[in-house]
Amino acid sequence: MRPVSRQTDFQLDQVLDCLVGHMTEAVSGERLASELGMSHSRIVRLVSRLRGFGVEVRGEPISGFRLPWLPDVLLPRMIADRLQTGSIGRPLCHLYEVDSTNLYALGLLSEGSAVHGTTVIAEAQTAGRGRRGRTWCSAPGAGLYMTLVLRPEISCVLAPLITLGAAVAAHETIERVTGLDVDVKWPNDLLVGGRKIGGVLSELLAEQDRVGSMVVGLGINVNQDRFPTELDGVATSLRGETGGKQSRIEILVDFLAAFERLYRRFHERGPEAIIGPWSQASSFASGRRIEIHDGVRRMRGVTEGLNVLGGLRIREEDGSVEEVYSGDVLDWE
Ligand code: BTN
Repeated sequence: MRPVSRQTDFQLDQVLDCLVGHMTEAVSGERLASELGMSHSRIVRLVSRLRGFGVEVRGEPISGFRLPWLPDVLLPRMIADRLQTGSIGRPLCHLYEVDSTNLYALGLLSEGSAVHGTTVIAEAQTAGRGRRGRTWCSAPGAGLYMTLVLRPEISCVLAPLITLGAAVAAHETIERVTGLDVDVKWPNDLLVGGRKIGGVLSELLAEQDRVGSMVVGLGINVNQDRFPTELDGVATSLRGETGGKQSRIEILVDFLAAFERLYRRFHERGPEAIIGPWSQASSFASGRRIEIHDGVRRMRGVTEGLNVLGGLRIREEDGSVEEVYSGDVLDWE
């Protein structure tokens, strides 16, 4: 499929809006075309694209198109009434398709057009970014792909705590909404049954030693029913674990509120406001035998909690304690 241009994005919204406005009746392609001032063939193509994003549109152009139920599309106007935050998620910027919500948010920042709390959400990403240069599998309409723009007035060394905070908020949300038991692997992998269900990737624009602005990207596998074969046994989704479809809107709204609470507490009380709940949420926090790779070296030891900057303390076999700030953690059997 061709990438979605800004104009197509806008028109997809118009068609969906019109179908939502006529929820109980079938609307012919002809009528949609005349209401929206587009050609009939354009309407047919847009409906087909909406279907590609997981929106269930029943019917045909002649008999009429109809939505059997409200679609789980992350449209700001369907979310606005439920949003309970002061600044996080305000505004919400929705895109059907983007290369990466992180890149898009960084672009908004460099144009100077993103206030603190701006949140970019997409139905699909064509080049979703994961930690350590990996890609994030971002199937249309299946997962949550979002990025928060933050302007924290803190020193750069404290920025990783905000990323840990996003993982804690996502952990709380997923447990609350689905009842699943979620683990957090250092630094910010969300796991269910040892398999990955979500992750956080932050990117910073630093000003001298202060964080001027940062973007915090969160991906959650919500309704995926399959993954590429290379992720077999590695990734899972909320749907896969609960056996039923989950509402992305509900998860999004709950997460934004949970993150805002934690962010406020962090500014009021300092690092412990994040380190405490992170340590409660993670089975990796202490007493866990792990192996860690930071791209250069490989280290083995037993975890002894986080330091005040969110670094992982590891007691090595010779008794010395190392504090690490990045890397991939594996169990050390
Ligand atoms: C990880 O590797 O665990 C972090 C994954 C982060 C993925 C999210 S999806 C939304 C946001 N946009 C991106 O390009 N990446 C993050």
